[in-house]
Amino acid sequence: MTLIGLAYNQKPEPTELTSPASEGGRQEDGELPRPDEEPPSKILDLSIAELIARDEFAEWDSPTTIAAVESALSRLGKVVRLEAKEDFPERLRQAKPDIVFNIAEGFHGVNREAHVPAICEFYGIPYSGSDPFTLSLCLDKARTKETLTFHGIPTPRFAVVEKIEDLKAVAGKFPFPLFVKPLHEGSSKGITDSSLCFDRSHFFRQTEFLLENYKQPVLIEEYLPGKEFTCAVLGNGAEATVLPIVGMNFDTLPKGALPIYSFDAKFVWDRPENPLDIFQCPARITRELQASIERVTLDAFRVLGCRDWARIDVRLDASGVPNVLEVNPLPGILPDPADNSCLPKAARAAGIGYEELIQNCLKYAAARQGVDLEHSLSRTSGAQGAPALAASGSA
Ligand SMILES: Nc1ncnc2c1ncn2[C@@H]1O[C@H](COP(=O)(O)OP(=O)(O)OP(=O)(O)O)[C@@H](O)[C@H]1O
Ligand SMILES: [Mg+2]
Repeated sequence: MTLIGLAYNQKPEPTELTSPASEGGRQEDGELPRPDEEPPSKILDLSIAELIARDEFAEWDSPTTIAAVESALSRLGKVVRLEAKEDFPERLRQAKPDIVFNIAEGFHGVNREAHVPAICEFYGIPYSGSDPFTLSLCLDKARTKETLTFHGIPTPRFAVVEKIEDLKAVAGKFPFPLFVKPLHEGSSKGITDSSLCFDRSHFFRQTEFLLENYKQPVLIEEYLPGKEFTCAVLGNGAEATVLPIVGMNFDTLPKGALPIYSFDAKFVWDRPENPLDIFQCPARITRELQASIERVTLDAFRVLGCRDWARIDVRLDASGVPNVLEVNPLPGILPDPADNSCLPKAARAAGIGYEELIQNCLKYAAARQGVDLEHSLSRTSGAQGAPALAASGSA
């Protein structure tokens, strides 16, 4: 039977949330200076420490997601959980799985998403998803945009600021409005309505806020005023397919909110008891627009070296041209259809259920690396009495 290692990082329980970060010195009350502006969240009256605490672990997976992935994978083999903590290399080496299913977002630093795949490569163990280089590249939004630009794929013009003294040089370079965000984050960490800057003083204050509190360079971009979409890709090479495009309806945001998919829109305003009906999938757009969005999505997937799956954010510029905002080679995969998780949503619209989505990703990874899943699949299915999975689902 195939042994499948499941590499993941699990979100701490809310009660655990204060300790790890405050150990790192970022969250002690009073330690962080309050900027002399209102906090970026306009809905919650949060201190800066609370604001950072609430997004510290936004990218890690919940116990529910990890269990759902484990359950899907268990149809294809025996699953061994490998939490990506300090002892991960040793546990991986001892477990010797035939393949690792990687959803670990990582712990530290700008290469954190690359750590698990790099360790797998070190031990010669096949794994799912993109390689360490692509994961690190896509976690640097500026380097990603350089690659896109080199290949002629539209993306907003940009600059990177590492220290506040650099701001003056950048300020005159592009017309307002400008959009500012941390260079190395996901899950809209550090992105609120205050990210959109209409004037120089706001631009300076917000950039300074991000530099001080997120301890990393700030990406400054032209603001794209058009419609937004997110596009899931499944597969590799000529088989890579864009699943039905997810369109965003920003009219569903609270009154006065800006038309952006901010941290508040993802995690504060969208609550189980009052869900935001923000997505339309498949997006109702012309065939022409659909084709051009799919084209930039697949082009971005390929030039960045993504594998097996990814989610790519696209927004239209003032002329209606699709631009790539950023690329997520480790996409969010919340299992509950009530949750606004775009890759599973797009898969459902294509008739691919959650388990099949996870299994397909593993099958694409196995096919690439010559891991014989089909063989183990028939044995596993027989042994567990589970119905055989459709052969057409494999790569
Ligand atoms: N240049 C821009 N112009 C207009 N809106 C932007 C721009 N950059 C970001 N946004 C808005 O901010 C949102 C979050 O930005 P981005 O996708 O870069 O963040 P992220 O944290 O990487 O997101 P994810 O949760 O997809 O990982 C976008 O979905 C979009 O609504
Ligand atoms: Mg995004």
